[in-house]
Amino acid sequence: MKKTFYPKEFIEKYKKLLGEEWDEFFKTISKKEEKSIWINNKKTDIEKIKQKMLEKNIVLKKYSFSEWAFGINYKKPGDLEEYKKGEISIQEKASMLPVIILNVKKENIVLDACASPGMKTIQLSNIAKKVIALDVNTKRTKILLHNKNFFGLDNVFVKRMDVRNFKEKFDKILLDAPCSSEGLVRKKRDALKGWTQEIVLKKSKIQKELLLHCFDLLNKNGELVYSTCSFAPEENEEVILYLLEKRKNAVIVPIKLEGIKIRKNLLCENCIRLWPQDNDTQQFFIAKIKKVN
Ligand SMILES: C[S@@+](CC[C@H](N)C(=O)[O-])C[C@H]1O[C@@H](n2cnc3c(N)ncnc32)[C@H](O)[C@@H]1O
Repeated sequence: MKKTFYPKEFIEKYKKLLGEEWDEFFKTISKKEEKSIWINNKKTDIEKIKQKMLEKNIVLKKYSFSEWAFGINYKKPGDLEEYKKGEISIQEKASMLPVIILNVKKENIVLDACASPGMKTIQLSNIAKKVIALDVNTKRTKILLHNKNFFGLDNVFVKRMDVRNFKEKFDKILLDAPCSSEGLVRKKRDALKGWTQEIVLKKSKIQKELLLHCFDLLNKNGELVYSTCSFAPEENEEVILYLLEKRKNAVIVPIKLEGIKIRKNLLCENCIRLWPQDNDTQQFFIAKIKKVN
């Protein structure tokens, strides 16, 4: 098996941040994560997929946080006929949580501010009335459009644009921000190949702009979920603290998730860090923000 690449500076940074926990953290991120799927209710239903998997002797493990989310003991779910028909999507467990935490209702119109390739758009589309899915990148918007059609997301409207130029208001917004992608290291052995602290700081600057703008797109009492798959405090807690400083009507809402270990965040109250070693997942940082007046 190909060895994971770790830059020296990355190791030094996180050894310092994690202290005694470094060994367990490093051991976890160096092994592959569990395969997991989301059942796409635009094309099928849970019982049909359960039955089809049973017939193939494939075991599904239900996740506590959603009826549509399952672990799957199959090496290449992308080879399954159900995937090829768009009935299931392949999505990492922690990556499903930002949408769950946004707590979208069937009457909601949702902004998916940074949407491509659209894995979270599938989840949103399965729950909400309508989803506006934006992405600034031309190539990635094409992928998003392809996935909209492939997964039959008839209530999703795709637009290629920089969300910082978008003006409509929403009750629910997902900002799954562009980040240094550190958390992808369990999936992609060379995810950290181009990693530098300069990139982390550059992303942090963009994330602050995106978050401030997306917050301003919320209606009063509206809610926004900010997420990244980075480990860096500069891309996570620092971005949230920046918003709190700039917008006095922003409040961080406590997050409850059944069956998922969440630790108290010492840098920014109510934000959560899903460390890989806690739930055997990919890294995710998630904050739920409400506009109170
Ligand atoms: C982490 S990825 C999103 C993953 C996606 N939410 C999913 O679950 O499949 C971040 C995306 O943000 C897009 N992006 C970056 N800057 C943006 C901007 N200013 N406005 C809109 N999209 C942006 C990138 O092109 C990239 O596709």
